[in-house]
Amino acid sequence: MIEVKNLSHSYGKFMALNNVSFTINKGDFIGLIGPNGAGKTTLMNTMVGILAADSGEVLVDGTGVEGFHADVRRKIGYMPSELSTYEMFSPTELLSFLAAMYGIDATTASNRMSELFEKLEMTEWRKKSIKKLSTGMKKKTAFAAAILHQPELLVLDEPFESVDPISQHKMKEILNKYLENGGSVIMSSHVLDTVQNICNTFILMNKGEIIKQSSLNALDGSLEDEFFNLVNELNIAHEETLEDDMPEEDDDEAQD
Ligand SMILES: Nc1ncnc2c1ncn2[C@@H]1O[C@H](COP(=O)(O)OP(=O)(O)O)[C@@H](O)[C@H]1O
Ligand SMILES: [Mg+2]
Repeated sequence: MIEVKNLSHSYGKFMALNNVSFTINKGDFIGLIGPNGAGKTTLMNTMVGILAADSGEVLVDGTGVEGFHADVRRKIGYMPSELSTYEMFSPTELLSFLAAMYGIDATTASNRMSELFEKLEMTEWRKKSIKKLSTGMKKKTAFAAAILHQPELLVLDEPFESVDPISQHKMKEILNKYLENGGSVIMSSHVLDTVQNICNTFILMNKGEIIKQSSLNALDGSLEDEFFNLVNELNIAHEETLEDDMPEEDDDEAQD
């Protein structure tokens, strides 16, 4: 179980993540949604320990992520939205390196890699440098890299962006199997139809805060309508607050 407790993170004076708390249980598939700049990537980076939290904590089965303990690291698979730092490797090299880091023996690693590359239809690209791959192929590499060590939790930052529909379908099949085997997923996405179709819970973020967390079964209409209405209400409320804060115009005192 993963507990995110009162997590906050600021970039300088700007608070990108403000006191966020939620829990991920075995079998949960959470869709993290919200406008650009809502703080989704900051939350995920803080959850996996890449960014240090200013306050609050993330506990994986009771152990904090901040120390990068090997057993915590093994339980989490992270797919960043960009794979730019590993571009000099090929998919095979990257995954072999990660497998060695996780202490997976060479035969098991090779079998898992072949299976993943085949399922994701990237076998013929596996030895090309990542730099030369299409965005979709880079995404699939990052996805395979996140799931290779069979973690308990997958943290996926916009996994389907720029991925063609067939590849998306393959990734979803792999995710279904992963969930059936007891895994949990948190995934950020702007593709609300997909979130509504494959996730069981959604968390809506806006300006660094969780606005709503709800089961998707409980939703009557479309997630898109829900998203639009909630964000709209917030913006109207925000504008009204700004208007309340404006000094009243007073004609009598206008001249000086
Ligand atoms: N490294 C950074 N330095 C300063 N501000 C940042 C940095 N990364 C993100 N931000 C700001 O923090 C806010 C949240 O960003 P992010 O977590 O990337 O949101 P999202 O993933 O929801 O689009 C945005 O306003 C963004 O401009
Ligand atoms: Mg982001």
